[in-house]
Amino acid sequence: MTRIATKDEWTQIADLTKTAYGEYAKDADPDFWAMYESRTRDLLLNDESLIRFIVLDGDVIAASAIYVPPNKNKYPEMRLLSVHQDYRNKGLANKLIEACERRAKDDGFDFMTLHTTSLMTTAKAMYERRGYERFEELDFKPVPSFTVWGYIKKL
Ligand SMILES: CC(C)(COP(=O)(O)OP(=O)(O)OC[C@H]1O[C@@H](n2cnc3c(N)ncnc32)[C@H](O)[C@@H]1OP(=O)(O)O)[C@@H](O)C(=O)NCCC(=O)NCCS
Repeated sequence: MTRIATKDEWTQIADLTKTAYGEYAKDADPDFWAMYESRTRDLLLNDESLIRFIVLDGDVIAASAIYVPPNKNKYPEMRLLSVHQDYRNKGLANKLIEACERRAKDDGFDFMTLHTTSLMTTAKAMYERRGYERFEELDFKPVPSFTVWGYIKKL
């Protein structure tokens, strides 16, 4: 079942996100990674403006993704797509991408954006197969030597 998480599930989402993204830690600068994890956890535990979609297997949160409504940004954004290792390659990421895109449409937006990086090869290929295209306007550099790539899709 895919639905929006309740507040008592926010900690589980933060834990799942930390574990799912943990596979990229070995390629990152340790200080940068510690800061990234801490900021992400803070966001997931506290930001009331985020819509947290989850996929449940019974009581277990198998996957999560964040829909960020365009408060400060021009476009809605999907962030922190995370699938538990035991539930990968079963189409759960796809369900969450669809949930975020549907929400954006229902909110009256015609575009969805996201960020990914050269390290996230499975995710990057998956987004491109679903019609996401590079959108340099949203690129940023968390450290001078590394670019985070912006992507956009017309819904
Ligand atoms: C990337 C991630 C979200 C994919 O989740 P998933 O539920 O396994 O993906 P799905 O089962 O919905 O599969 C989506 C597509 O990717 C393909 N895929 C999934 N795992 C794959 C793998 N290990 N290698 C190659 N392709 C893979 C599927 O075949 C499917 O292909 P399709 O586009 O032809 O349908 C998951 O691996 C993850 O949580 N990774 C760590 C966090 C991350 O990278 N998040 C995204 C950051 S931008």
